[in-house]
Amino acid sequence: MTNFNQLTMASQHYRYLLDGQWCEPGTGDYEAIRAPYDDSLVGYLPLMTQEEAGRAIAGAKKAQPEWAAAPVNERSRILFRAADILEERATEIGSVLMKEIAKKRGSAIDEVKRTADFIRYTAEEGKRIVGETLHGDSFPGFDRRKVSVVHRVPLGVVLAISPFNYPINLAASKIAPALVTGNTVVFKPATQGAISGLLLVAAFADAGLPAGVLNTVVGRGSVIGDYLVQHPDISMITFTGGSVNGARIAKQAGMIPMVMELGGKDAAIVLPDADLDVVAKHIVSGAFSYSGQRCTAVKRILVMDSIADELIKRLVPLVEKLSIGNPEENADITPLINDSSADYVAGLIDDAVLKGAQLLTGGHRDGRLIHPTLLDAVTVDMRIAWEEPFGPALPILRVSSEQEAIDIANASEYGLQSSIFTKDIEAAFRIANQLEVGTVQINGRTERGPDHFPFMGVKSSGMGTQGIAYSIQSMTRQKSTVINLSE
Ligand code: NAP
Ligand code: G3P
Repeated sequence: MTNFNQLTMASQHYRYLLDGQWCEPGTGDYEAIRAPYDDSLVGYLPLMTQEEAGRAIAGAKKAQPEWAAAPVNERSRILFRAADILEERATEIGSVLMKEIAKKRGSAIDEVKRTADFIRYTAEEGKRIVGETLHGDSFPGFDRRKVSVVHRVPLGVVLAISPFNYPINLAASKIAPALVTGNTVVFKPATQGAISGLLLVAAFADAGLPAGVLNTVVGRGSVIGDYLVQHPDISMITFTGGSVNGARIAKQAGMIPMVMELGGKDAAIVLPDADLDVVAKHIVSGAFSYSGQRCTAVKRILVMDSIADELIKRLVPLVEKLSIGNPEENADITPLINDSSADYVAGLIDDAVLKGAQLLTGGHRDGRLIHPTLLDAVTVDMRIAWEEPFGPALPILRVSSEQEAIDIANASEYGLQSSIFTKDIEAAFRIANQLEVGTVQINGRTERGPDHFPFMGVKSSGMGTQGIAYSIQSMTRQKSTVINLSE
């Protein structure tokens, strides 16, 4: 029987993977995971105890030396196999993902396929890790008898904590680079998205991962998170999620390497010479894909006042064309992940309107479903100018100069990405060079892909860099062996 079949018990009670075994929770505790769209049951998630989490870490630590000693071409082969298995199951896993996080069917299946490509690229890149050799004579007082042979070694046990909005891709973006470099992984998925995460783990297990190399910890981060991040046998933490949790983890974890991919408030800066038909398409796609639940979503428009009305004329019909409703029917706008998220987004909209913003379209909700909302005349005293909605609400701030746009963009606590729309490449670079962000997109929507590009945030948007080769670097360290030749 494959792991894929072992992970589910009768009546949709799921198991977690620990040291190669699919286990039931010792306490018998489960959390019902329900679809944000219609509250239908997705499955029952096992809730692990701290003792079980401790065994997951211990098992990963025990398995790590042998996994690190395996030839990288063997580790790579297993990853290639996992990618193939994942792709074979893309429709089945995509359907679960769609239900679990209300991501439209096409995007859900695409996420699984994108992840298979991610894993393959990682499997190949992992074989390209090289070191260097230094000779002593390039420094005064030394000669060539002293030689340093530098190579990269794995860190040990990687704690991978992933968010709800890409439960397969952002999990694999941590797991795959860690595995190919000889680390073992303790994987903590977001609770809403954890069933999808377990299906990803089953693909790795079916690909032949040795027991303990990839262990799972499922349960509420607020309950088990502190224990995990402070555990002395964790060698590295790679976290993707909200800035508040990221900051908490960074304070608690102590002196171990970390990569944090956190919140964002990506600005789209629109200059007067931009092609507004093109700009409108990029902005609507960037702001409202997956109902705005992307860290790299366009979360504010900074537009020159002189062209704002012309841009709005193009934005509103595109927003109003977005389909709304059932992810099963590929609706563009679907219910947000939970009630509190919908309450938060609605609160931002209400605050803006109360303070004088003009509601151009949207503004109403049906439960967790927030209709795509565009707000004009947003000012810096409104919460939505600064806070991350993580939902389909987009503020327009009118500016009178490039400098005003730069100043407002940089005044954000976040620094993930920004877009600049202009035909003037010199203006684009002039502005880009002043923006305090990880990435600037010129004439494109803000986005993480393609997945081999570096992906990073500054300020409250995180620290360290993802992107396949960069993740490989962050999950390894240099080791120097110095040879002292006699003659
Ligand atoms: P979240 O609530 O911070 O949760 C992220 C992960 O952290 C989940 O696995 C969560 O587990 C876990 N967690 C929660 N509290 C924890 C604690 N005290 N210690 C350790 N782990 C803990 O974020 P989310 O709601 O899943 O995702 C939305 C946020 O993440 C947004 O701010 C978005 O911008 C950001 N995000 C950033 C990126 C990026 O690449 N920069 C990508 C995606 C999302 P539970 O689910 O059990 O609470
Ligand atoms: O929020 C998830 C982040 O990684 C977005 O990915 O490719 O949709 O920009 P992408």
